[in-house]
Amino acid sequence: MNATYEPRPEQSTALLQELHILTRDGKLNQDTRRKLKQVQHLLGFIAPLLKQSYASHGSAHVVDHGAGKSYLGFLLYDAYFKQGLATQVSGSVTGVETRADLVARSADLAARFGFDGMQFLNASVAQSNTSAKLPSRIDIVTALHACDTATDDAIRFALDHNAPHLVLVPCCQAEVAACLRSAKPHAERRNKNPLAELWRRPIHTREFGSQLTNVLRSLQLEAHGYQVTVTELVGWEHAMKNELIVASRSPQKQNGAAQKSSLAKLTALLEMTGLNHHHTNQNPIALRFLTGLSAA
Ligand SMILES: C[S@@+](CC[C@H](N)C(=O)[O-])C[C@H]1O[C@@H](n2cnc3c(N)ncnc32)[C@H](O)[C@@H]1O
Repeated sequence: MNATYEPRPEQSTALLQELHILTRDGKLNQDTRRKLKQVQHLLGFIAPLLKQSYASHGSAHVVDHGAGKSYLGFLLYDAYFKQGLATQVSGSVTGVETRADLVARSADLAARFGFDGMQFLNASVAQSNTSAKLPSRIDIVTALHACDTATDDAIRFALDHNAPHLVLVPCCQAEVAACLRSAKPHAERRNKNPLAELWRRPIHTREFGSQLTNVLRSLQLEAHGYQVTVTELVGWEHAMKNELIVASRSPQKQNGAAQKSSLAKLTALLEMTGLNHHHTNQNPIALRFLTGLSAA
């Protein structure tokens, strides 16, 4: 892995300039240094997954949700898909983005660089789930700082497409915290224990909600048979949105007991935090995490 996160010699200077990562005179733009650092670090995690897909299928198909300006997609394509580089992987990179202007800009940039295997869908993550423009096999689903529940939609997308790998860096998570707040009286009544203190001050409930969201996501993925690792993306300077969730599933290594155990923990945690308080799974949060799991 490139520990300095500077542009690599084989990376296209012209592309980095078009993405405004490098200035016109080839210097690293101060504002985008952080983005480059994040994306380069992420590439280090994605590269072995690409190689696995290539070894199994002779190609790799990536879908990047909440693509924004598609820094990740372009740097990924430039490094691993483009002709002429040492580590060649054929396949596609699809960016999904709700903002039409960003989609048009990225499509134009891909055309100008001859990146034929890149495409961009002007759609929400949820809408893209049923798009006819997707490749028939999806190997890797990524979502880098996709807003709020877009990360959950990306997880649903990966589950529905049976994608073996997910690489997620969640963004702000407001929804679970809001739901926790509305479940406050219930939670206080049910939890006659010191953990009820987490509901006492809004800032603690908000931060707890953010952490809880990623714990629930990890359990959800484990319950579906994925091996999940959670680390920090880059240094602590970006602590608020710095959690990297990498999940991989090998069809040969299904572990029913571990999956059941994760599902039991997921259900218990939803119950304990008041997110499943009607016992009917009609709560949208409970539904989101439990859909497709056998005890749901
Ligand atoms: C914080 S930006 C991150 C962009 C890019 N992944 C990156 O890290 O540079 C989040 C992007 O997700 C898009 N977005 C938000 N919700 C979305 C959704 N439900 N479906 C698709 N895109 C979404 C926004 O328009 C925005 O461009």
